[in-house]
Amino acid sequence: MPSVTGLGGRRIIVGISGGIAAYKSAELVRRLRQAGAEVRVVMTPAAREFITPLTLQALSGNPVHSDLLDPNAEAAMGHIELARWADAVLVAPASANVIARLAQGLADDLLTTLCLATEASLFVAPAMNRVMWAHPATRVNCQLLQQRGVSLLGPAAGEQACGETGAGRMLEPDDLIQALVDHLRQGPLAACRVLVTAGPTREAIDPVRYISNHSSGKMGYAAAAAALAAGAEVVLVSGPTALDCPRGVSCRRVETAAEMSQAVQEQVGACQIFIAAAAVADYRPRRAQDEKMKKRAAELNLPLERTEDILATVAGMANRPFTVGFAAETSALEAHAVDKLQRKHLDMIAANWVGEGLGFNADDNALTLFWVDGKQEIPRADKAVVARELIAIIAERYHAKSTSQNSR
Ligand code: PMT
Repeated sequence: MPSVTGLGGRRIIVGISGGIAAYKSAELVRRLRQAGAEVRVVMTPAAREFITPLTLQALSGNPVHSDLLDPNAEAAMGHIELARWADAVLVAPASANVIARLAQGLADDLLTTLCLATEASLFVAPAMNRVMWAHPATRVNCQLLQQRGVSLLGPAAGEQACGETGAGRMLEPDDLIQALVDHLRQGPLAACRVLVTAGPTREAIDPVRYISNHSSGKMGYAAAAAALAAGAEVVLVSGPTALDCPRGVSCRRVETAAEMSQAVQEQVGACQIFIAAAAVADYRPRRAQDEKMKKRAAELNLPLERTEDILATVAGMANRPFTVGFAAETSALEAHAVDKLQRKHLDMIAANWVGEGLGFNADDNALTLFWVDGKQEIPRADKAVVARELIAIIAERYHAKSTSQNSR
């Protein structure tokens, strides 16, 4: 059976209520982890009659949560922490009883309390006898939940554990996972793969010294996180930074321009959009010394050679992605940026000033975007905010370019 992918780094709570379909939850948890998700399981007391917490603990790799009033469990990871932890909560199977309690907003066990306390997307996979599913009370409860933005997944129709045939079977684990993937991938970059470079590179002079710059990686990491939030699958190639890889982004750490170039070449073929936010060293020492250099002469000349221009190489590919460069400038911002746009044949360039608390190693940035027949300002703000606007504009230009290419 092919494995479903696309939940890399996502945090999913699987809520299990009492029903015979609880046996499928074991496979659901296993497949979610195969798809890259981190999984925590919350069981109602009735669920524990159908499947053991030990099975789910082994499959999820985490302790199973059941008890709202257990001080030990609350101390380890309380219901509010669990509620905050999740990107999505999937109640599967959801019995008629749990659906009714969710619809009423009850908080009489850990699962319902958690569902009330979370801001994560809530998915409910009903599983019950066909007559219970068709009952007006269940119909009203489901409508109420849907009106509040809860996604109902299924049920499927078919043979039921009670011997009857009809609607009420829990969807198969892969169908549930695909629904989660589709939901979490909504946005203007859904179905896109985006490659982002970030941070500085380090070019060795000797074993203890290097040429580098003040890039912190914040702008590139923010762009990667914003692309992910816009529904893309994101690969981040990062030079040395102190930042954690954004959750859900696939991260490749590199040190030198040559390593960054190699990592980009390996990834770029599968990407529709390339964003070069890294401050790549333009030159590296022609030869890194094997031993620490001694200070003898009053002056030292270091022969330097050009590094590969990663951005220009990508922009020159036959089947290139939508290619976005950055330009960090200390003078004539527009003239330099437009020159880079044209010389490197880019689809877009994001120009930023250096200094005054902007650009390199700052929390804030302001960008001026240029493309062949357009220009747009993104005013000064925190880099996360700037990145969201940047990604929205990239998505717009990317789709406009794809549409015009397809109509030719
Ligand atoms: O990392 P932060 O502290 O958050 O700072 C963000 C930033 C200021 C580094 C970022 O916003 C930025 O402007 N990045 C590009 C900086 C830069 O070095 O620009 P450049 O003008 O030297 O290069 C132009 C473009 O070519 C850039 O997209 C760069 O990634 C790319 N390039 C440059 C040289 C090279 N050898 N290969 C490249 O791909």
